[in-house]
Formats: sequence, structure tokens, C-alpha cells
Amino acid sequence: MLATDEHCRPLPPKPQSKAKHAMASPGTAAALLVVLAALLAPPPAACACSAADRDALLSIRAALSEERRLGVFSTWTGTDCCAGWYGVACDPTTGRVADLSLRGEADDAVMAPAGRPASGVMSGYVSDAVCRLDRLSSLVLADWKQISGPVPACVATSLPYLRILELPGNRLTGAIPPLAALSRLAVLNLADNQLTGGIPGSVTSLAELKHLDLANNRLTGRLPSDFGKLRMLSRALLGRNRLSGPIPASVASMPRLADLDLSENQLTGAIPEGLGRGSGNGGNVLTSLYLGGNRLSGGVPASLLANSGLGMLNLSRNALGGGIPDAFTPRSYFMLLDLSRNRLTGGVPRSLSLAAYVGHLDLSHNRLCGSIPAGPPFDHLDAQSFASNSCLCGGPLGKCT
Ligand SMILES: *[C@@H]1O[C@H](CO)[C@@H](O)[C@H](O)[C@H]1NC(C)=O
Repeated sequence: MLATDEHCRPLPPKPQSKAKHAMASPGTAAALLVVLAALLAPPPAACACSAADRDALLSIRAALSEERRLGVFSTWTGTDCCAGWYGVACDPTTGRVADLSLRGEADDAVMAPAGRPASGVMSGYVSDAVCRLDRLSSLVLADWKQISGPVPACVATSLPYLRILELPGNRLTGAIPPLAALSRLAVLNLADNQLTGGIPGSVTSLAELKHLDLANNRLTGRLPSDFGKLRMLSRALLGRNRLSGPIPASVASMPRLADLDLSENQLTGAIPEGLGRGSGNGGNVLTSLYLGGNRLSGGVPASLLANSGLGMLNLSRNALGGGIPDAFTPRSYFMLLDLSRNRLTGGVPRSLSLAAYVGHLDLSHNRLCGSIPAGPPFDHLDAQSFASNSCLCGGPLGKCT
């Protein structure tokens, strides 16, 4: 029942707004008639799917196969891909596909055969046909476990409207294509794949980027030295890769960076001075910093311990030396403070007892010496937090002799 060859007609006014209008001028028979007409009218004829987009979707489907016959692609029937095709959404004024979002762990009725909580499996590859959907604003194929092959390189040049690119939890291989042309990209999530090669230098020209998640791949090489150019970035999750070289100093001047995870790489050099001190406007938004499991050397920056917003700090399993700065304040509030397995010397800083809260503290496997201060938070910590140091005593370790 495709109406006219007028592909896109303007939407008729919504019934609700008519109802308001009717109340605004009570008693007018004309207004009532308008309401009736709106109620009896056929549903708003949004623009139907563009035929080219429908073809592209069918090519995308042909490259993927659902295990255990999930319901996902059985909804992709009929000519109007903007109506009832699971995971597909169109711009109602143009009929162009704006979102393609299929998540293997979505608890939707269509996903019922995937169990509860849903754990859907799809194999195949991401077809280049995605690049024909050149009005896409979001492309999400997440957590299907067995989708393999590369991230289509054409994505970088063919999808100028893309804001969200999420392909995590698959088996994608190859390199991350250079993405500089995606000037609207706000979310880039390719985590939990098997991607190799480096982080493309062009990533730092994505001026709108807010979330970058490339964790748990096999990425090598260095972080771009101008990483700090990403002024909008609030989450950078790059842990569990094979990145080497230093943490760029520019990271210390990112105004919106709240979560930085570079853990379990092969990073060397010092933690940039001033990281966590905040920049401009007194802003200081760093709330979690995970740098554990690298080869970092140098000292623990005092700016991190004095930071009142940083709740999670894990610097474990590095080669950090020197003393723990005596820089805690009554505004320090750490749910996690793990400095274990480094080469820290000196004593447990007295100021730690000033901290408003320290949940999980781990100073074990260092070279600390001296008496553990009395009072909170030391009262509720157990010996494990201080184990394997040079000559610590007091508190949970028992009397100093
Ligand atoms: C801190 O990070 C290291 C390295 O990633 C990890 O092994 C350890 O479990 C983390 N500590 C906590 C308490 O999560």
C-alpha cells in the first residue's frame, strides 16, 4: 500500500496539538471537527525507506548470520525498512536510514531465543554496504562475539554524519582505519576485538569525540603525542593492549577527561606531572585513573593524591619509586587506592589519616618502612594492605619493636 509517487509528504499535524487548540477556544464546533478529522485520519505518513538504503541493509544482512535463528533479521521484510525492521531507524523527513543498532546483549522480545540475560551470537563480517547508508548517525553492531573481518575502511570517508560507531565484543581484526573525516563522531567504541596496528594519529582531530573505548585489543605503538587535543573527551579506555612509549604530557591538560584507563600495556616513562590537577577554570574532573600493569617509572605525582574528585586510582604493578607524597587532604576520597607492586620507599604518609575516606587501600609489595599511623582509615585495613614491604610495623602488622 505505497501511497503516491510523492516520496516524502509533510507530516500531518499531531492530534494532541489540535486537542490543546480545541481547549483554548472551547465550544467552537470547527475545533471539534478538526479533532475528529485528526483522529480519523490515517497515521502520519512518514517518509518510507529509500530503496537504495533498503538494498544496502539487505547486503549487510547477507554478510551476517544469526546463530540459533534469533528473530533479528526475520523482521527485515517488506519494502519499508523504516517500519518494523528491528534495529533500523530512519529520519522521518527524508526516509534515509539514520541508525542501525544491533546489540547481541539487548533484552528485547526479538532476542528471546538468545536467553536471559541475552547473549546472542552472530558470525560473518561487516559489509562495505554500511558505507552506502551515507546518512547514518549511529552504527552499532555490538557483542555478537563472532563477527570477524576488518572495520570497513570506507566508514572513515563515506559516513560524514556518523556520531556513534560501536562495534565492540566481536572478533574484528586488522587496523583501525584513519577516521579524521568523521568530524561529528562523539563515540568510538571498538573494544574487545582483535584489532592490531596503531592508534591512528588522525584520532586526535575528532573534535567532537567524547568517548573513546579501544580496550582489550592488540594495539601497538604509541599514544599520539597530541592526544590532549581532544578537548571534549571524557572517557579514554585503552587498557589491555600492547601500547608502548610514554603517556603524552598533553593528557594532563584535557579539560573534560574523567576516566582514563591505560592499564595493562607496556607504557614507559613518568606519569605526567599535573595529571589530575585540572586545567583552566579550576576545573578538575578526573574521577578514575587506571595505569596499573605497565612499566612506568618516576614518582607518584602529588597532584593525584591531593585531588578531591579522584575516587579510583590504580598505579599497581609498575616501577614507580620515591616516597608516597604526603599530600592527602580532608577532601581526599578514595574508593580505591592501589599503589601495590612498585618500588616505593619511605613511610606511609601521615596525611593519609586526614582523608575523608579510603575504601580499598593496597600499599603491599613495595619498599616502605616505618610505623603505620594510628586512627582512620588505618583501623579498618587489614595486614594484606601493607604486606611485603621492607620494614613496616604498627597498626594491623602488630607492634613496632
Ligand atoms: C590494579 O591494577 C592491576 C593491573 O591492572 C590489577 O592487577 C589489580 O587487580 C588492580 N587492583 C584492584 C584492586 O582492582
